[in-house]
This record gives sequence, structure tokens and C-alpha cells, in this order.
Amino acid sequence: MGTEGFKGKIVVITGAGQGQGRYFAEQFYHAGAAVSLLDLNSKSLDEVVKDMGPTDSDRFKAYATDVSDSTQVSAIIEDIGKHFGKIDILINNAGILHKSMIETSTDDHIELMIRVNLMAPMYCTRSVIPFMKREGGNIINVSSILATFPNTSSGAYGAAKNGLVTLTRVWAAELAPYDIRVNCYAPGVVNTPMMSEIFVQHREESKLSQIPLRRFGESEDIFKLLSFLCSEQAEYITGQTIGIDGGMWATQTPTIAWNKK
Ligand SMILES: NC(=O)c1ccc[n+]([C@@H]2O[C@H](COP(=O)([O-])OP(=O)(O)OC[C@H]3O[C@@H](n4cnc5c(N)ncnc54)[C@H](O)[C@@H]3O)[C@@H](O)[C@H]2O)c1
Repeated sequence: MGTEGFKGKIVVITGAGQGQGRYFAEQFYHAGAAVSLLDLNSKSLDEVVKDMGPTDSDRFKAYATDVSDSTQVSAIIEDIGKHFGKIDILINNAGILHKSMIETSTDDHIELMIRVNLMAPMYCTRSVIPFMKREGGNIINVSSILATFPNTSSGAYGAAKNGLVTLTRVWAAELAPYDIRVNCYAPGVVNTPMMSEIFVQHREESKLSQIPLRRFGESEDIFKLLSFLCSEQAEYITGQTIGIDGGMWATQTPTIAWNKK
């Protein structure tokens, strides 16, 4: 899937300081889009700027911000929308996973999981609509396999990510009259800092045994789907959540076929 169609597009990516969001920002920028990166972590944003060295500063903006703060989000999206005159693509990518079982979950933990993973995409989406309405566009929500194939200690995260599946369907219908498509994807295990604990604790083998395709996802795998969903090839697709997990969700017996090979 080529990225030629993104030249001149105005793209907003949340959580773009590291991991998948950073990779998406680099890909869209190299494809000729104007990218705006929003992230809580100003240090990692500085690193992205240093590493990428964007030569065309008018196509690259970075904002250190908390996307779960509605006031900050409206001000920044307005700044981007007024500067470029429109917004074509919003990737609601920022997310955070802190583990806790319900019995010991603090108010702060519960609020953080819901604010960042569920409320922030609502704030960002609401704010971009005025700038996307005239020419249409694409909104992408980032869910997780934990939304529909949940795990202990990640209930609040999974519930928030499941909420995004519902919001994707509702927004698809609400925004269709403006030619705005809304889709979502649900990754399994993607090799980013968020999943570093798997590697630090040497749990790679046990995790891989849950994945029929026997490898972790890479940001590149996710970008292939993301760029398809935002392209004209997907012009009749809206309201969908697509699993991208190497088959992790498919069966209760992911390893049997490997053992027989
Ligand atoms: N990595 C995986 O295996 C995996 C699996 C399923 C879903 N996801 C989802 O994919 C998305 C990207 O995750 P990743 O793997 O790149 O994770 P990551 O932790 O590497 O990157 C997430 C980024 O979001 C930023 N962020 C967190 N809270 C923020 C806030 N309040 N405001 C602004 N920025 C904030 C972080 O600073 C970080 O740069 C997330 O929504 C995550 O939930 C990841």
C-alpha cells in the first residue's frame, strides 16, 4: 500500500513521542503530509525532533500536552486547524496501561485509565470536527485486544478500549454526512516501550506461544493497516474495528498446529 496519497494532508497524531505514534508521524511526514505530534512527554518529543530533523518546519509541529485535558486539547487543535485551514486525519493513538486488580485499584488509577484511553479521544475528535467538516477526512481510534479478549489486572484499560469500539460506530454514523469516516483497530502485542515489561521479564516465549503467527507486531504492521484505512482504497469502510494481532484472538489453541508441523 503506497503512501503517495498523503502528500499535502494535514495529520494530527496523539501519543507521537514514542512507540507507534512516533513511527506513524515519521511515515506521514516522509509521505509529504503535514504532521502535528501531541504527547505528554516533552523530552521524547524533543528527541523525535532531533532524530527526524524535519527540514520543512511548516509541515511539522510538536505540542507537549495532556490529551486528557479538554481545555488544552481544544486550544491546540484550534491552533493546528487555523494554521493549516483544515485537518484531514486524526489518529487517537495516545494510550496508557497501568495494571491493577479491582480490589486494590485507587481512584487515581481508575480515573487515569478512563481519562487517557477513553475521554481523550472524545476531546480530540470533538475538537477536530469543525476543521474536518468541509472537506471530509478520517478519524482512527486505537483499541486493544484487551477490549474483547480481556486479562486480569487490565480491566479499566480494557473497558476504556472497549468503549472506543462503541464510539467508533456511533461517530461513523454521526459524521458520515460530512464525509468523515471513523474506524478503529485493536492490536495484540506490538513491540514498543509500552510492552517492554514482556522483554525485561523474559516473558517473550510464553507470549509468543499465544500468537499463531509466532511473532510480535511491529509499528510497520500497524501503519500498513492505518494507511489503508485512511486511503481512498477504504472509502466504503466506516464504523469498523479491525483486529491486528497475529491471530491471537482467533482460537483457544494457538500452538497446536505448530506442534504438529
Ligand atoms: N504496544 C502494544 O502492544 C499495544 C497493544 C494494544 C494497544 N496498544 C495501543 O496502541 C497505542 C500506542 O501505544 P504504544 O505501544 O506506542 O505505547 P507507548 O507507551 O510506547 O506510547 C504511548 C505514547 O502516548 C503518550 N501518552 C500517554 N498518556 C498521554 C496523555 N495523557 N497525553 C498525551 N500523550 C500521552 C506517551 O507519552 C507515549 O509517548 C496506545 O493507545 C495503546 O493503548 C498498544
